[in-house]
Amino acid sequence: MDAKDFVSIRVSTLRGDLKIEFDTYVKVAGKHILYLRKGDSFEGSRLKRLKEKKLRKMYIKAEEESDYRKYMAQNIEMAYSNTPERPIKTRAQIIQGVQQAAAEDIMEDPESQAFYYVAKEGSQKLAQFIENEKKALESLLSIPNQDQSISHHGVTVATIATGLATQLGLSEQIPMNLLVMGCLIHDIEHQHAPAPFTKKITDMTTEETALYELHPYNGASRVKDLGFYDPSVINIILQHEEFIDGSGFPKGALEQDLDPLSLLASTANSYDRLVSFYGMAPKEALKTLLIENMGLHPLTHLQSLQNVLKENGILT
Ligand SMILES: [Fe+2]
Ligand SMILES: [Fe+2]
Repeated sequence: MDAKDFVSIRVSTLRGDLKIEFDTYVKVAGKHILYLRKGDSFEGSRLKRLKEKKLRKMYIKAEEESDYRKYMAQNIEMAYSNTPERPIKTRAQIIQGVQQAAAEDIMEDPESQAFYYVAKEGSQKLAQFIENEKKALESLLSIPNQDQSISHHGVTVATIATGLATQLGLSEQIPMNLLVMGCLIHDIEHQHAPAPFTKKITDMTTEETALYELHPYNGASRVKDLGFYDPSVINIILQHEEFIDGSGFPKGALEQDLDPLSLLASTANSYDRLVSFYGMAPKEALKTLLIENMGLHPLTHLQSLQNVLKENGILT
């Protein structure tokens, strides 16, 4: 078979226990090699191995694309319907994977209005899932970001920011779908101008720091004139590295100058950077934010973060 007979699919959409109705392939040295056959599922160790390989895309035969679409639709429908036979952990894995794929779609192709609207609709659903289902947040955060993926980080930041907004009683006052949406793609620039984002700033070279400190501004510039990005989403991209004392970047803005949605994104982002990129345990990460990084984020946010982590069994 020729390369043109295959289409790529995102690995993160293959979560859950549903059997696949199509063969999946990996590409090795330009050749498509059969990886998992029809009738199997991507549970457990198989998925873990794929993640460890940092494989983001797989392939299916073009003629089986409609079977893949059907599988995805069925998976999503089951994930969002609260049926007792389906464990919340499996549902959370599917929802996380779908939103991660939606974030990857936009970050790779920011000019696609269709991708933007799909992700926005998904963002609304993700916010509702977290607000309405008791174990949703805990289950979403229990999925480790093994390959330090920027899209997985986006979903995690969105999840934590939603938890914070709910804890702070803000969920009726702010557009939760836009909070989620902005968080999903806040680091869009890393997709285009790869900065060493998993390093601590103090370990970066001067050139690396310069590039890194440009990512919010360049990310926002990349999308702001396209016409369909919501202003709050652009603000989150631009301001997610700002701190309330003016020591952040790119502008060194103060708390009163920042969009409240960006403030939530910034707190959630600081926390998940410590956990997903620096490998800290939740307790250690929270302690770092409360003590070493004191004054960078609103104290009410940090107290709420502590409550969210405690209530969800992440901090014991
Ligand atoms: Fe960032
Ligand atoms: Fe980030």
